[in-house]
Amino acid sequence: MKKNLLIISGTRPNLVKIAPLYNRWKTAYISSFNIKLVHTGQHYDYEMYESFLKDFKLPQPDLCLETKSDFVCKQIAKTLILLEDEMIHNKPDGIIVVGDVNSTLAATLAAVKLHVPVFHLEAGVRSFDISMTEEQNRMIVDSLSSLHFSPTKSSVENLIREGIIEDKIIFVGNILAEILIKFKKEVQRKSNFLLTLHRPFNVDSIENLKYMINYICNNVDGEILFPAHPRTLKNLKLFNNPSNLKIIKPLPYSDFIDHLSRCKCVITDSGGVQTEATILQTPCITLRKNTEWIETITDGTNILVKDIRDLKRAIENSFKKKDKIKLPPFWDGNVSLRIWDSLKKYYNLN
Ligand code: UD1
Repeated sequence: MKKNLLIISGTRPNLVKIAPLYNRWKTAYISSFNIKLVHTGQHYDYEMYESFLKDFKLPQPDLCLETKSDFVCKQIAKTLILLEDEMIHNKPDGIIVVGDVNSTLAATLAAVKLHVPVFHLEAGVRSFDISMTEEQNRMIVDSLSSLHFSPTKSSVENLIREGIIEDKIIFVGNILAEILIKFKKEVQRKSNFLLTLHRPFNVDSIENLKYMINYICNNVDGEILFPAHPRTLKNLKLFNNPSNLKIIKPLPYSDFIDHLSRCKCVITDSGGVQTEATILQTPCITLRKNTEWIETITDGTNILVKDIRDLKRAIENSFKKKDKIKLPPFWDGNVSLRIWDSLKKYYNLN
């Protein structure tokens, strides 16, 4: 008998990750599973939501909740209540959640309270910084999931160390690699930099943001294209920006990947961009004290800059890394296949 699964998305990066999963289901697993797409509405602007549905040819979700952004606890609570209603009503056989955003946590809590199995994609990645909302979300979700789909060897090791039964951990690889293979082209690099910043610790204080932006613009050689997240844009508008900074709205995925493939170097605080830069061999500077994507440092182009004053040296070092990349195992085009096969096994489906 077919199993009924909900695939939950809440934010822009969630949509990127569910796209290959949904497409693979449609082409090869439709006789085993019924799928309902649920978007929690955490991201809702056209550029953060609809544009991604369009780019990935995803259908309108079967259910779109209007939780929007709010204080963290309110956002989680609203999502939890609405998803509980949905699951009581439709009794899914399982839910698939991705990443580490608040919607992922809320969906997991609603499901486990109703004894619905949770399958977590990107399980086990850890920054070891429990002050990050995302790290809190990851740890809670992983402690409650029925299957853990892990993107890297280090994420598998983290789960084992945390006492997760090994049979429940499936090393599937990085789903972002599967989608990038389709978008990747051989391109000529340009001389500009690409910048993305949205983490609260970097952008929520106007003073800090202004200092960082000025420091970056004064210490890199070239134009900096900055597709700014709405959270960041709010504060960017409150001061004069340097002339080599070109602020634009968030880009559609294909345009963003095009810029990421062509730029001289990306400066970011995003998790996804770190792994995408490694796959595209783009030098990458991460303005954070830690990363949950350690392989992007050991095997890829990424360099952590904990103190902005180290920026210039880090950029030079990152250029040197780009020719020595070895992609981590299973960062390939078959991640969604491994996931669906594991789900069939979980439910004893032929
Ligand atoms: C969320 C995730 C973060 C992820 C990021 C990707 C959590 C805790 N954080 O951060 O891990 O890296 O998404 O983008 O879940 N806003 C809009 N329009 C939108 C969406 C957001 O204007 O479509 C603005 C709102 O002012 C909102 C703010 O952005 O208050 C923050 O949105 P929220 O979803 O809470 O967190 P993100 O910073 O997007």
